[in-house]
Amino acid sequence: MKRIAIIGSGLIGRAWAMVFARAGWTASLFDPVEGVAMGALPLIASELAALSHLGLVDDPATSTARVHATTSLEQALEGADLVQESGPEDVDAKIDIFSRLDRIAPRETILASSTSAIVASRFTEKLPGRERCLVAHPVNPPHLVPVVELCGAPWTSPETIAKARGFYESVGQVPITVRREVDGFILNRLQGALLAEAFRLVSEGYVSPQDLDHTIKNGLGLRWSFMGPFETIELNAPGGIPDYCARYTGFYKRLQASPATPDAFGEAAVAEIIKQWGQPATPERVSTRMQWRNERLSALAAHKKSQPQT
Ligand SMILES: NC(=O)c1ccc[n+]([C@@H]2O[C@H](COP(=O)([O-])OP(=O)(O)OC[C@H]3O[C@@H](n4cnc5c(N)ncnc54)[C@H](O)[C@@H]3O)[C@@H](O)[C@H]2O)c1
Repeated sequence: MKRIAIIGSGLIGRAWAMVFARAGWTASLFDPVEGVAMGALPLIASELAALSHLGLVDDPATSTARVHATTSLEQALEGADLVQESGPEDVDAKIDIFSRLDRIAPRETILASSTSAIVASRFTEKLPGRERCLVAHPVNPPHLVPVVELCGAPWTSPETIAKARGFYESVGQVPITVRREVDGFILNRLQGALLAEAFRLVSEGYVSPQDLDHTIKNGLGLRWSFMGPFETIELNAPGGIPDYCARYTGFYKRLQASPATPDAFGEAAVAEIIKQWGQPATPERVSTRMQWRNERLSALAAHKKSQPQT
């Protein structure tokens, strides 16, 4: 049986445990804050039970039994095929954690970080085992959103990337390879471009935030849940992508001549968005909406699982 060690048992660490345990791996959780790894177990058990009602986990009790809380890094790393570091988003913390992981983990173990925005070359450069380190950036929550961005440092070996790809595929995730380090990887660069334009359009008064959301959730986003932008444009002109580009890139060139600037996220723009959004930014509201989002995502994941993939 394959083993994963999850270092940091917060939101993302717990979700990774579910991904691997439901696919038959043993998952060992570690967290330096006392009680956190142990406290994750009942949360994982209840989430797996909920997922099983939608057919997203076959046997929640058996999956839950594969997840263990440990009390030391050494114990968590024992026999691990893959480490999924999911600690704080702070470069000094990552440097410290990775130096300990590289010292303790068996030589053949792959060391992956869940970091959202710190490239691996910033926290693995000095490690003797740096060729086995990479970023494996998930989307929250990874047990419902399968894409994972794999991005090595310049010294990460191609074998490490290939083996990691195989691991994530084998547990039902959809890995993509980022071929060289870039700030924001791929997903957040795309999200950032869209958000910058959304902030600009709302703060400059072209549309309300609610109507802008409609253009995604009742427009572009409907296709995006099963097609990417290249697959989309291929079907938006009878002659496919060459025809689409011949017809429409003049228009896009014109738009790109005045792109959103950092001012899109400036103080005035943010204040305007908050005012127009009009909802209280309370933890209660956010938590209720998160629960709602996870239920919708679960139903969508179940639907996608029931459909042919291409
Ligand atoms: N939350 C998201 O939407 C999201 C999405 C993708 C990636 N990530 C990345 O995943 C990582 C974890 O994020 P999260 O949202 O789960 O945060 P979190 O705060 O929920 O969990 C972090 C956990 O790390 C533990 N920790 C603290 N110091 C540690 C150490 N030295 N070694 C190991 N663990 C330590 C904390 O006790 C905590 O339980 C971050 O790098 C984050 O950028 C987060």
